[in-house]
Amino acid sequence: VCGPPPHIPPGSGIPGKSCGTIIVLAEELSNCRDVATLQFCANKLDKKDFFGKSDPFLVFYRSNEDGTFTICHRTEVARHTLAPVWAAFDIPVRALCNGDPDRTIKVEVYDWDRTGSHDFIGEFTTSYCELARGQHGLNVYEVVNPKKKLKKKKYLNSGTVTLLSFSVESDPSFLDYIRGGTQLNFTVAIDFTASNGNPSQPTSLHYLSPFQLNAYTMALKAVGEIIQDYDSRKLFPALGFGARIPPDGRVSHEFPLNGDAENPACRGIEGVLEAYHRSLRRVQLYGPTNFAPVVNHVARAAAAVLDGSQYFVLLIITDGVISDMAQTKEAIVNVRGSGCPKGGCPLWHLLWDAH
Ligand SMILES: *[C@@H]1O[C@H](CO)[C@@H](O)[C@H](O)[C@H]1NC(C)=O
Repeated sequence: VCGPPPHIPPGSGIPGKSCGTIIVLAEELSNCRDVATLQFCANKLDKKDFFGKSDPFLVFYRSNEDGTFTICHRTEVARHTLAPVWAAFDIPVRALCNGDPDRTIKVEVYDWDRTGSHDFIGEFTTSYCELARGQHGLNVYEVVNPKKKLKKKKYLNSGTVTLLSFSVESDPSFLDYIRGGTQLNFTVAIDFTASNGNPSQPTSLHYLSPFQLNAYTMALKAVGEIIQDYDSRKLFPALGFGARIPPDGRVSHEFPLNGDAENPACRGIEGVLEAYHRSLRRVQLYGPTNFAPVVNHVARAAAAVLDGSQYFVLLIITDGVISDMAQTKEAIVNVRGSGCPKGGCPLWHLLWDAH
């Protein structure tokens, strides 16, 4: 009933008017990570359309702890047939039965109708445990319309639905990978553009004081000290961008903080901080703020590792506006498109605003 409850100010409901109810139920999810692939066909379904056959589709329901049902999948409509074969579909086992193999799964068969009032053909129940037997004489289900069954003595069924194939795959989480030994490859990129302020001035975000950590150091320590425990070698490539670098003073958007272009890796977060201080003394803060070169740098390395043994994290610490937004977008899109495994790409984009 939709009158405003006492804590809601008047005027936010329609007092005295019943607008229906919304019921929210919660159920703890099992941590089952399996994904099932199922395919069904049907035979001799009831003919529902006046001029023709039927346009059947299936609706799957998971049963809840309290005995109610929740829709968890709907197949496509098979047009104009009483013997449809639906496309195979993937469904998380959690969605199908909350990971409980014995829970009832209800399946309803409908005849699709243009107006949206689909005609009920019949229903049957099964369970994950039964489906997991795969294609099998026991996975042929009679589709029953309970009303028809009550009315007609001779009624047998409204057709049958057959499970054509069943398979299941585990979809590991990020933590599963980490437990299995995936290492984080943590790369840091630091903004050396002039907008950070002259490093010799206390107002600069790059100001090095014996008494207090600057914003860049704080960001680096906050993220790095957590991530470093997931890298057994503790070698962290550290790059700078947006500065004029020695010896010739050209502007670089991808220079090694330790000065070693062959191997920009630093030993531990302490090593990264040392290299950062070293660069601050040597380079001239300049601009513009380009991200694409460092994104591409890490993306190249990530593209070479497709076995899940490494997960690449790029931490970009910056003070401001990206100058090469279009190129940065393109670099990120390219990473995602370059042969990423099914579970997503092994690269995080982490951006830390030094303000
Ligand atoms: C870690 O990533 C960097 C790119 O930032 C790459 O140069 C380096 O080879 C990677 N480390 C390993 C062990 O693959």
